Amino acid sequence: MAITLNTGRLSLGSVELDQMVGGGLLKESTTLVSGAPGVGKTTLGLQFLVAGVKAGQPGLLVSFEEFPVSLIRDARQLGWDLKVMEKKGQLKIIFTSPQLFLDSLKTHAGPIIETIDILQPERVVLDSAAHFQRISRDTLELRDIYNTLVNALKRQNITSILLDETANVLQSKQGRMSALPFLADTVMLLKYVEVDSSMQRAIAVMKMRGSVHQKEIRRFEIAKGGLKIGEPFAGRAGILSGMTHRIA
Ligand SMILES: Nc1ncnc2c1ncn2[C@@H]1O[C@H](COP(=O)(O)OP(=O)(O)OP(=O)(O)O)[C@@H](O)[C@H]1O
Ligand SMILES: [Mg+2]
Repeated sequence: MAITLNTGRLSLGSVELDQMVGGGLLKESTTLVSGAPGVGKTTLGLQFLVAGVKAGQPGLLVSFEEFPVSLIRDARQLGWDLKVMEKKGQLKIIFTSPQLFLDSLKTHAGPIIETIDILQPERVVLDSAAHFQRISRDTLELRDIYNTLVNALKRQNITSILLDETANVLQSKQGRMSALPFLADTVMLLKYVEVDSSMQRAIAVMKMRGSVHQKEIRRFEIAKGGLKIGEPFAGRAGILSGMTHRIA
């Protein structure tokens, strides 16, 4: 299904998701997708890349954790044949280390940059940005690293999604907030919530620079094709803390 968008917007591969971000992600913006393990971050990232392929926009997935084989297998479960997309030159998956990736962006040399130069990706997904913490534990140095990363992607006219395992970007760790939510233009939060003794998934757009966006926290499920967005959590409070309760 082709999704028509306003110029300058990139589809996330779902009408509802696009509506949540004011019609799609802004061109050349950086989006942080934050959420707990298994909540659906990689799925959302892949969905964004697949939507790009359908729109004729080449995509690059940089993975620091999952081996391409298991990634390709998981994607097949979701109805996407990444191998075919790679063969057609619409998509490329790179499995590398955060240090190598950062170095190649900085020096603009090496096989990763060659791949980027050949593919000319319009969409890039990093899975996940949390791995840059392996390079440095120092908050200021990490901020520099993320800055370099975000700026390098923008310089290449790339619209990017950075995945991050932080369960709650709103919370500070040892009194310090991560720099990423500040540097990113858009922040999306995926969460598990307990509702009447069952686990559900919730999605919200926390911020979006230069655009209006929906403020509701909405239910979602993962199925073939990616994230299926449901209704907002009406009549409940405490969704983002994961401790929900009914409100009158
Ligand atoms: N075809 C499918 N139908 C239903 N659910 C699926 C399907 N494929 C994957 N899932 C579910 O998606 C979830 C994993 O999603 P995903 O890998 O996107 O999460 P993640 O946030 O990237 O996890 P991690 O933090 O471990 O990287 C699993 O819980 C799995 O049950
Ligand atoms: Mg993942």
